[in-house]
Amino acid sequence: MIQKIQTIRGMRDLMNEEINTYTRLIEIGSRIAKVHNYSHILLPILEYSSVFLRTLGEASDIVSKETYTFSDRDKRMVTLRPEFTAAIVRALISNGLTQNIPQRLFTYGPLFRHERPQQGRYRQFYQFDCELFGSTSPSADVEIIHILYLILQELGLNDVFQVEMNTLGDQESSERYTAALKDYLLTHASQLSDISKNRLHKNPLRVLDSKHPDDITIIKDAPIVQDYLNVRSQEHYKAVCEGLSAFGVKYIHNHRLVRGLDYYTHTVFEMTTTKLGSQNAIAAGGRYDNLVEVMGGPSVPAVGFAIGIDRIHELIKQSNDENTIHEQQTCYLVPIGENAEKHATTLAYNLRQSGIQTGLNYATSLKKSLKIANRNRMGVCIIFGDNEIHNNEYIVRNMHSGNEYKTKLESLETVILMEFQKLTSELNA
Ligand code: HAM
Repeated sequence: MIQKIQTIRGMRDLMNEEINTYTRLIEIGSRIAKVHNYSHILLPILEYSSVFLRTLGEASDIVSKETYTFSDRDKRMVTLRPEFTAAIVRALISNGLTQNIPQRLFTYGPLFRHERPQQGRYRQFYQFDCELFGSTSPSADVEIIHILYLILQELGLNDVFQVEMNTLGDQESSERYTAALKDYLLTHASQLSDISKNRLHKNPLRVLDSKHPDDITIIKDAPIVQDYLNVRSQEHYKAVCEGLSAFGVKYIHNHRLVRGLDYYTHTVFEMTTTKLGSQNAIAAGGRYDNLVEVMGGPSVPAVGFAIGIDRIHELIKQSNDENTIHEQQTCYLVPIGENAEKHATTLAYNLRQSGIQTGLNYATSLKKSLKIANRNRMGVCIIFGDNEIHNNEYIVRNMHSGNEYKTKLESLETVILMEFQKLTSELNA
């Protein structure tokens, strides 16, 4: 028996409204990144496994159980990229860009993590990512968070996310804190969940991430990082927070925010929402001053963020109808008869030349064409047969209200644009 063709679990095709979100986010993100002087970089999807295995933390979930890692035909271990940061650092080093610091780079595309699929969590997912290399200044952290904030704002998500901020301090502070946290957790080890017992020895910070009810009560009274920061780390974090306030970015402190990747130092942040259930982070990032050196480059401090495009789509779907509006900005030609059809191909060409998104189907009846237009949420239909062409009286139908009237060929373009405007205000009302 032939097996039914289907996608791999946790992987899906992006279509319709979802691809609109993807395109819109890439357009907005790229534009905002470029005006901030960031350059686009396109990376391979597959890298040698060492790029990720050594850098993200052996105890991190990604490395311990979530990468797609396999031996290729040359018997080299390769990994489908589970995130961009380590891959961009690899690119920075292998292209000699560390000789020309600072570097501001952005990228986007698919990533792969073999996680348990659920709403907002996929095995192939998409991110938009920005990284700034070569500055230890808190202003660099502010720049990165502000860019992220501007992108989310332009997507119309102002009221549906909050910025959560924390610091892990520099290496010295973070080592002191980790030791204190480990001591505390060891005294409660018998009450911890199995997964946290395991993390306690490999990476105690990750215990703070646990959502297990047994762990939550213990975490509540755990020492907090702020009490272990040296002066330098305190000052860095204070300056970042002040810089954000100066830009009008509202945030909250979450001293339990530690992030799931090992490379972070100083500032860490997450944009979270209450609208998506347990997968509540729509974007995240932080500073990572040691990663370039760990990967074999010179000492280059860095800070960056990644937006989870799939989750942004879920959020937009719930928050507003922007995508629906986009779909409506299409005009659909409905020619009736052979002659009209020939005329329609020229008309479609002219409208498209003027930048009007125009749809057209061949050899279908009026009824069927209107059905297609409805199903695909076209905004306006232009209906014409031999009579309409001869009398220069084209029928314009607003597909939202159902209103119809006639117009001349010369006015068609203006009328269509007017109808698009009407549709936008009707849908926003
Ligand atoms: P991350 O927290 O692993 O950070 O991922 C960033 C965002 O990607 C998450 O907040 C989430 O929205 C989305 N995401 C992660 N995993 C999935 C998944 N399985 N399905 C759908 N969406 C997902 C990083 O990747 C860091 N590289 C961010 C960074 C950049 N740090 C510094 N620079």
